[in-house]
Amino acid sequence: MSNFEQIQSDLRTHPRTWLVTGCAGFIGSSLLEALLKLDQAVIGLDNLSTGHQRNLDEVRGLVDDEQWRRFSFTRGDIRDRDTCARAMAGVDHVLHQAALGSVPRSIADPACTNDSNVGGFLNILVAARDAQVKSFVYAASSSSYGDHPALPKVEHTIGRPLSPYAVSKYVNELYAEVFLRCYGFRTVGLRYFNVFGRRQDPDGAYAAVIPRWVATMIAGGQVVINGDGATSRDFCHVDNAVQANLLAALTPAAGGIYNVAVNDATTLNQLFACLKELLAAHGVDAVPEPAYAASRNGDVRHSQADVGKAMRELGYVPTHRIREGLAAAIPWYLARSAEGAAPASNAEGAGKTEGAVRAVSIDSGERTDSTEHADSREHTDSAKRADSRERADSAERSDSAERGDSAELTDSAMRTGSGERTESAESTDSRGSSGGWDSTGSGESTDSWESAQRAPSAAPAVPVRPPPRSSPAAVGAPHTHLV
Ligand SMILES: NC(=O)c1ccc[n+]([C@@H]2O[C@H](COP(=O)([O-])OP(=O)(O)OC[C@H]3O[C@@H](n4cnc5c(N)ncnc54)[C@H](O)[C@@H]3O)[C@@H](O)[C@H]2O)c1
Repeated sequence: MSNFEQIQSDLRTHPRTWLVTGCAGFIGSSLLEALLKLDQAVIGLDNLSTGHQRNLDEVRGLVDDEQWRRFSFTRGDIRDRDTCARAMAGVDHVLHQAALGSVPRSIADPACTNDSNVGGFLNILVAARDAQVKSFVYAASSSSYGDHPALPKVEHTIGRPLSPYAVSKYVNELYAEVFLRCYGFRTVGLRYFNVFGRRQDPDGAYAAVIPRWVATMIAGGQVVINGDGATSRDFCHVDNAVQANLLAALTPAAGGIYNVAVNDATTLNQLFACLKELLAAHGVDAVPEPAYAASRNGDVRHSQADVGKAMRELGYVPTHRIREGLAAAIPWYLARSAEGAAPASNAEGAGKTEGAVRAVSIDSGERTDSTEHADSREHTDSAKRADSRERADSAERSDSAERGDSAELTDSAMRTGSGERTESAESTDSRGSSGGWDSTGSGESTDSWESAQRAPSAAPAVPVRPPPRSSPAAVGAPHTHLV
């Protein structure tokens, strides 16, 4: 039995209470889904600034009623200390994901990024220390490697940060280290590398490359690759990130920083070819060849993680390499596209569905907070999503198509901007709200991509496996960040 299997078995026998911040976001909602399926009690905290009610709705459709009752959601902001302290009541383990992603966003508005990513992080850290939680795991970032050229990236060798976002994530690591030194409070930082998977937002100015490209290709649009396409990344499926979080939280000796990726390198050209092939297996076979545009200043040429430390110390064994992850993700995107969400384009801003569009831009506007969408969240739930609740074992399946306008979901507390927790989210869908897919994006679109770094003389070998000719049944979809 692997460490991860052992941990899951232990959790089922001895359930805990978890706080997942950023639970309505891409990675946070996958953590929520995994924990509820393990019969854990989960407190979720999110201000819905880049996360979406529809992500919670989708998770609700993937668990049973009893599991869903173990979830309580607070719509609240980590910039508010009292909200953080209240959210921590009774919590055993913290998985802190809430942050404003996107390097371009941080360049456009560094103070805003700092408020959530540094101020908010410190609030959560202090609250967790005061509550004496059993473990504290937080989302760090490969952007901490900054301008250091070495490959693969090893935890102890970093360069200078190359964006306000990178500074904010690195400051998290510094605070975490100092909390161990000053208060004996132990933490684990997981440096994610370009995570992708179901529920990663394809829309908005800061969308990451995989969801943006997939949506563009499904819509028949043309992907534009900046540069020659030899730029490479270590794309990490979200299920690997979920595994790393649970291992980090429950491995007694865990502490410090761990890379979370696969130790693969996939070029943009290979990514495009792989997506095209996988989409063709689903009947999307009129995908134009990509256009090539000038390289963007600041894009890191190559990024690849050494994941040996996580494997040795946590027992981390990534289950999805790029091809498996993409194959799992595509049905989710297809379902989402079919349900009529505004197709994403590669272009900045929203709207375009065809023609050449750009992958990520730093000059598009930032999304505003979504408190105002709360009113559309009254719902009802249930029956309508009954079918979606037959969870396929592959957690990745997307029921989003079934989400009717009445999915009753989570809570009412989400309507308060200030974080009142409700006991089990019975809420509502947000599909009618503007917090939808056309709201500005989720996440960091360019962590490491944006950081300048010297290119190795040769492109790394890419471990692309033979493509499955048929996609896995009932699997969900991923997104990817060009972080
Ligand atoms: N996705 C990646 O490739 C990647 C790579 C490196 C690091 N990370 C980090 O992982 C974490 C999750 O990223 P994601 O891709 O799921 O992004 P996401 O935008 O989908 O999720 C972030 C969530 O945090 C919430 N949030 C933001 N500011 C908040 C605030 N002030 N108070 C309460 N909630 C707030 C958002 O509403 C959103 O639901 C982030 O910390 C991000 O920096 C992600």
